[in-house]
Amino acid sequence: MMVHYMEYAKEAMDQISGGGAFLTVKGENRVNTMTIGWAFLGFIWGKPIMMVAVRHSRFTYELLKESQEFSVSIPIHSDLKKALGFCGTKSGRHYDKFEECGLTLVPGETIKTPYIQQCDLHYECRIVYRQSMDSELVQHPIVHRYYDQNDYHVIYYGEILACHT
Ligand SMILES: Cc1cc2nc3c(=O)[nH]c(=O)nc-3n(C[C@H](O)[C@H](O)[C@H](O)COP(=O)(O)O)c2cc1C
Repeated sequence: MMVHYMEYAKEAMDQISGGGAFLTVKGENRVNTMTIGWAFLGFIWGKPIMMVAVRHSRFTYELLKESQEFSVSIPIHSDLKKALGFCGTKSGRHYDKFEECGLTLVPGETIKTPYIQQCDLHYECRIVYRQSMDSELVQHPIVHRYYDQNDYHVIYYGEILACHT
């Protein structure tokens, strides 16, 4: 069922920050998913936006170079802790995470990127802006805590084309 993008914002953000969600990206030859623990939901450029942050070291980052889209699938009621653990520690460079975790892909309703059937809430997003972090502009304690290996995030602003349960 299609819902307003803010309808389940609290549930979505509680799950993303407390347990994680699946960020799915379709590159030229591969679909992959990874666990995310950070995101923003908001409104900018007259559009509803979901923002996600992906470090350069992730396979997902490579796929995002080939794509203008992503989906975020959130397990609100379903218990997918094991799959979130696997997808948050293993790379798509070495595993087919969908097969390993028994996750089923469903074609997106508005984008070519699929979403994960076993989740309850889905955002389909078209990337409207990509932002490489500038190390000079980050507060020092954050650099110290998150970027001592120099593995910065790229921040992707996805216009939410559909939000469905
Ligand atoms: C709970 C949790 C949250 C995570 N959040 C993020 C995130 O927001 N951004 C990120 O780049 N990596 C995050 N990670 C790490 C990636 O999910 C992990 O490195 C993954 O193996 C990358 O997969 P890939 O190489 O197939 O892209 C998180 C991991 C966990 C367990």
